[in-house]
Amino acid sequence: KIMNQLLGVNQIEKQLAEYFGIKRCVVVAGDSDEQPKVVDEFGEALNEALMQLLPETQNIIAVMGGTTMATVAEHLTNLETDTRHNLFVPARGGIGEAVTVQANSISAMMATKAKGNYRALYVPEQLSLATYNSLLQEPSIQEVLGLISQANCVIHSIGRALHMAARRKMTEEELLMLKQKNAVAESFGYFFDEMGKVVYKVPRIGLELKDIQDIPIVIAIAGGHSKAKAINAYMKNAPEQTWLITDEAAANVILKGV
Ligand code: F6P
Repeated sequence: KIMNQLLGVNQIEKQLAEYFGIKRCVVVAGDSDEQPKVVDEFGEALNEALMQLLPETQNIIAVMGGTTMATVAEHLTNLETDTRHNLFVPARGGIGEAVTVQANSISAMMATKAKGNYRALYVPEQLSLATYNSLLQEPSIQEVLGLISQANCVIHSIGRALHMAARRKMTEEELLMLKQKNAVAESFGYFFDEMGKVVYKVPRIGLELKDIQDIPIVIAIAGGHSKAKAINAYMKNAPEQTWLITDEAAANVILKGV
């Protein structure tokens, strides 16, 4: 609190962007762990960022799932112009979430709000490797994977490693392995330790972490004091073009030194 009064939110945004070595941070007042309306404000900030960042062309926007993404999706407004058209696709398929917060649902919701189009990627959970591999040969899946690989914008969230492992019903062995490797953060189906090093990857189709490096517009959205450690870990090695939309509570913990 005191620090914010002295520095102001703009100062905090600058400090945080500098600390992570990324393009921009948007810091919303409050703590999303305690005030759900903070997440609505993330949505408004995302909408403004997209208005500003999306070029006047055919854009392909790859999105991840989760509850933060589900809420921010509701806040998009018409992002179409005569020369700007937006196609929303899931960034990765089937990483184990409830239907309402799956990347497919979020991409559909975003497209509806933004008056754009969307394409779903249908890959069921829990497939045998053989079925999985033959599914990958399906032309309809190949087509969507082709679109995903051409994304010029990606929007994602960041979660706590063990929380996400439990939410995805990963096995006891996997949980133990994540603990042993000191996993603290999860994003895109990858798990990271405190240094931002990948310690485990859920093998799924779609965007790979290395692909994100070359995507011109990258927006990460996560907040709440409980996620400070996870955000700090993931953002350490995040691509430098990343914009982070977060809240004061997470920013303060991070800048104090998690
Ligand atoms: O599972 C998709 C995902 O975006 C994860 O990559 C991330 O860790 C998580 O959801 C965030 O979920 P929430 O917004 O519910 O905390």
